[in-house]
Amino acid sequence: MPASRGRRSSDTTPSDGRRPLAAIVLSAGEGRRLKSGRAKVLHEVAGRALVEYVVDSAIKAKASPVVAIVGFEADRVETLIRERFPSTKTRFALQKERLGTADAVARARPALDAATRSRGDVLILCGDVPSIPPAALRALVRKHRKTGASLTILTTRVPDPSGYGRMIRDASGRIESIVEEKDASREQRRIDEINSGVYCARWKDLDAALRKIRPNNRQKEYYLTDAVRILLASGKRVEAVEHAEHRDLLGVNSRRDLSAAWSRLNEQSLRRLMAAGVTVVDPGSTWVASGVRVGRDSILHPGVTLEGNTKLGTGCIVRPGCRLADVVAGAGTEFLDHTVAEDVKIGDACRIGPFAHLRPGTDLARDCKIGNFVETKKTTFGVGSKASHLAYLGDADIGNSVNVGAGTITCNYDGVSKHPTRLDDGVFIGSDTQLVAPVSVGKDAYVAAGSTVTKDVPPGALAICRGEQRNLEGWVERRKKRSKRRGGK
Ligand code: UD1
Ligand code: CA
Repeated sequence: MPASRGRRSSDTTPSDGRRPLAAIVLSAGEGRRLKSGRAKVLHEVAGRALVEYVVDSAIKAKASPVVAIVGFEADRVETLIRERFPSTKTRFALQKERLGTADAVARARPALDAATRSRGDVLILCGDVPSIPPAALRALVRKHRKTGASLTILTTRVPDPSGYGRMIRDASGRIESIVEEKDASREQRRIDEINSGVYCARWKDLDAALRKIRPNNRQKEYYLTDAVRILLASGKRVEAVEHAEHRDLLGVNSRRDLSAAWSRLNEQSLRRLMAAGVTVVDPGSTWVASGVRVGRDSILHPGVTLEGNTKLGTGCIVRPGCRLADVVAGAGTEFLDHTVAEDVKIGDACRIGPFAHLRPGTDLARDCKIGNFVETKKTTFGVGSKASHLAYLGDADIGNSVNVGAGTITCNYDGVSKHPTRLDDGVFIGSDTQLVAPVSVGKDAYVAAGSTVTKDVPPGALAICRGEQRNLEGWVERRKKRSKRRGGK
């Protein structure tokens, strides 16, 4: 960067403003402790795989490329990352045999750019540490570059350090080594400062150390953590950043850890929403994924789940027991109890539920009402239209100010293909109507209750299609007499 540009970013070293930063995400492991047939990093928390969170944090810390080390279920892990991050520079390196974390990192070598190999840094992340905040990574890189260290380790203090590598420091607090639990003495096991498995390293120095690591430990693995001793022995500098919030660095090794990761990520989301002016009535029973946005003065009642990229406007109310996934809703919309909606768009000031089911492709304009036991799929509603009770509306294109009566059903499927229904502005559909698609009802037309509509209805007409009613006068009396003659009551 030319000196005349002024401000020097604090992320850069004084000597070189453009040191490359790549990321290596270790995700080859099987995760035996999860007792699963699926690769550990594919296990989901709040609708996203563990490894997605990690790749996302690496991207937010401005690392590029992101190199994932894959092994167990390599194809599935690679496909998932490519699909979820189509516009990111991702690369993949295969680790066929799980020889240890040092071996895994070394596999990234050919996937790194020449500039990174000669003068760049790498962020090393574990695919099973999902709740790491990007800010923690940025702080790590900053200290690493400021101190000129060869390796900087992200550490934290935990109430129960079992399972983690322990940080060994000398009397003056300088890092000496990392000792794995299985190789630790009883004394060392009492240390509560642990290695989070997240590092920033100058690739050239780390690479030289990796080549010297031998699997001489209890697990017969190539330990990345051995790089600490090797670097120090060759006169290099090793630093650490202690992260205050230990739950941000929780590694998922068991099903219990998986549920703890859910709680942690959820807590981060709820805290973010509350800070932005959203009321969360009962944080303990409210689940919000990290991609969710909610406008100020909205209220989330107990038992609400918001998934995916759900985005609610200001002043929305979500009543107990609703699950909204990838829902985009305008301001002042209310979801009454136990509504389920997935992949739908909703305008301002709508009222949905209770017990409504909005399926993918539902698109409602403003001031609409979808009442109890109404199911919609691939259906659009114009401004102010209503389906207040008990209906199935599929593949329907509904205009403005339409009233769909109770019990209306679009018969959109003939057993082979789906057909559309069109209801123009101002249409009134009486209760218990079947609309046999393809069919359309013209502007302001009425359909009488109980009709089975098989032909298009012209604008302004009344369509009525039902058997004519006959009233048999005195029928009840006559039946009584008949049954008395036969000896009945
Ligand atoms: C590792 C660290 C430990 C640290 C802990 C933090 C070592 C030797 N130990 O231990 O100090 O406290 O992480 O969570 O590094 N992996 C591969 N290939 C391999 C081995 C592992 O890709 O050959 C991946 C795993 O899929 C996982 C990550 O590396 O995502 C960490 O491996 P894991 O076996 O869980 O290491 P820990 O025993 O937890
Ligand atoms: Ca682990």
